[in-house]
Amino acid sequence: MSTPRYSIPGSAPSVPPRDPEGPGATTAQAPDAMERARSVAAVLAESQVEQVLAELDRDLVGLAPVKQRIRDIAALLVIDKLRMNLGLQAETPSMHMSFTGNPGTGKTTVALRMAEILHRLGYVRKGHLVAVTRDDLVGQYIGHTAPKTKEVLKKAMGGVLFIDEAYYLYRPENERDYGQEAIEILLQVMENQRDDLVVILAGYKDRMETFFRSNPGLSSRIAHHLDFPDYSVDELQQIAERMLAQRHYRFGAGAREIFHQYLERRIQQPHFANARSVRNALDRARLRQASRLFAERDRDLGRDDLTTLLPADLLASRVFAEGSAGEATP
Ligand SMILES: Nc1ncnc2c1ncn2[C@@H]1O[C@H](COP(=O)(O)OP(=O)(O)OP(=O)(O)O)[C@@H](O)[C@H]1O
Ligand SMILES: [Mg+2]
Repeated sequence: MSTPRYSIPGSAPSVPPRDPEGPGATTAQAPDAMERARSVAAVLAESQVEQVLAELDRDLVGLAPVKQRIRDIAALLVIDKLRMNLGLQAETPSMHMSFTGNPGTGKTTVALRMAEILHRLGYVRKGHLVAVTRDDLVGQYIGHTAPKTKEVLKKAMGGVLFIDEAYYLYRPENERDYGQEAIEILLQVMENQRDDLVVILAGYKDRMETFFRSNPGLSSRIAHHLDFPDYSVDELQQIAERMLAQRHYRFGAGAREIFHQYLERRIQQPHFANARSVRNALDRARLRQASRLFAERDRDLGRDDLTTLLPADLLASRVFAEGSAGEATP
């Protein structure tokens, strides 16, 4: 059976995607200067990519190996740019990636930054991120999958297509699974339109490895594998402080220590999801703080009252309840 050739409109093939005068040219790059750049410093200055890298360093706690890989990828793109400016670059390097790690380890957050870096360095025209799962790509009935997948690819053109829990695309137990059709379309677009679309496949590390073993075609098109480690309790604590500061909250006297104890317990319980669990725990603490303040009808509430989380707001969590170890919903 020969598969039809898919080409997704949106990346006009007659216009090289890196053409600075192209339809997607934006203010992020100063096109002429970018084309004339002969030094790393010139590309960095024109693309302003260092700002994104600095933000990544500053905003995200931990993730040292991930941050290093992103710097390496950025370096590769900068050097490619310089090579291209001297007429050396023949073909676009593949930038498809896999992000493996447990839930809440920052995969989606980093993918957004990656899209921005790829855009600033002129690799993709728009730099937006389209995040999907199997259900967005695969239809329930015969004939539904190709249009669904192509619609998603069309939306993602010029940016990054982020496929979460990518291994669900492939169901080996199901002989006539439509997921295979989606994978075939993806493969072709990843190969033929890689100068205008970057695909990031994300999910648990072990399942992803199994998935790649049964899909060598996909595996061979992935240029960069980034592994996201679980956070330590200290890193989770720092993440919490940052999340609170961003929303104009803070831990009051004693609350910091209580939250640390909370993390030490929570990390051992089922359904722990790294930074996502931190976010959820803080949301519930804010809820309790609100109820506590709401009860004090007649008191004037000052800035301190409204911004401070007290130990009581945290201790009410079920994580601290007697014999709660193993509880699913803290
Ligand atoms: N290193 C970090 N520093 C600060 N905040 C972080 C960090 N990692 C993740 N977060 C925050 O935690 C939340 C979850 O992160 P994100 O959605 O990127 O994780 P994920 O790996 O995509 O998770 P999932 O697999 O559940 O989709 C987000 O609100 C994000 O801002
Ligand atoms: Mg995610």
